[in-house]
Amino acid sequence: MSLPLARKLAEKFDEEIKFFKGWIDGPKAVGAILPTSSITARRMASVIDINSGLPVLELGPGTGVITKAILNSGIKPEQLYSIEYSSDFVDHLKNHYPDIHLIQGDAFDLDNTLAEQKDLVFDCVISAVPLLNFPVEKRVHFIEDLLRRIPNGRPVIQITYGPLAPVPAGKGNYIVQHYDFVMRNVPPAQLWVYKSPLI
Ligand SMILES: C[S@@+](CC[C@H](N)C(=O)[O-])C[C@H]1O[C@@H](n2cnc3c(N)ncnc32)[C@H](O)[C@@H]1O
Repeated sequence: MSLPLARKLAEKFDEEIKFFKGWIDGPKAVGAILPTSSITARRMASVIDINSGLPVLELGPGTGVITKAILNSGIKPEQLYSIEYSSDFVDHLKNHYPDIHLIQGDAFDLDNTLAEQKDLVFDCVISAVPLLNFPVEKRVHFIEDLLRRIPNGRPVIQITYGPLAPVPAGKGNYIVQHYDFVMRNVPPAQLWVYKSPLI
């Protein structure tokens, strides 16, 4: 095996161990036992409108698989705001992505978490927060709050592992569309897009 390949495998394994450790420490907050696959991460990042000039909001970056896909899409590190609850993941992300706006805090309380940046308008929101672990009413408020932070017509994309939309249609001021089903993810992942209703 070549040295670069061995190094890449070792890094990936290290990320998976970190992720699994996070899952043991707080299974409800982490939600999945393995990081998202790079294919899924790329599908999520594909919703970004790179020409909008607006920053991107990422929620629940974990070990940074989706963060990496967002940066690879052409978003500059200073245009990315990533909100992570776990201090272990934050320490890891700081080492790997020192130039993004990484904020340790609660994605369900964004006004406080974003503090002075709370009035920023984002191009879109890319979320891996494990919504199914929270009551439906809290999920509905979460989506409605996110939609207030992006222009009309722009998406919040959410990953989930259940068969149904994690924030069901008809419960609040949003429309929901199925975006993709990615088999090459452990477990297979569903992607859902939320938008403000057309006026
Ligand atoms: C399923 S993991 C996804 C991690 C990574 N984005 C990936 O796709 O592999 C969920 C992540 O959301 C974070 N998280 C959970 N609740 C959160 C909250 N209320 N605010 C911010 N992050 C949260 C967890 O710490 C974890 O990093």
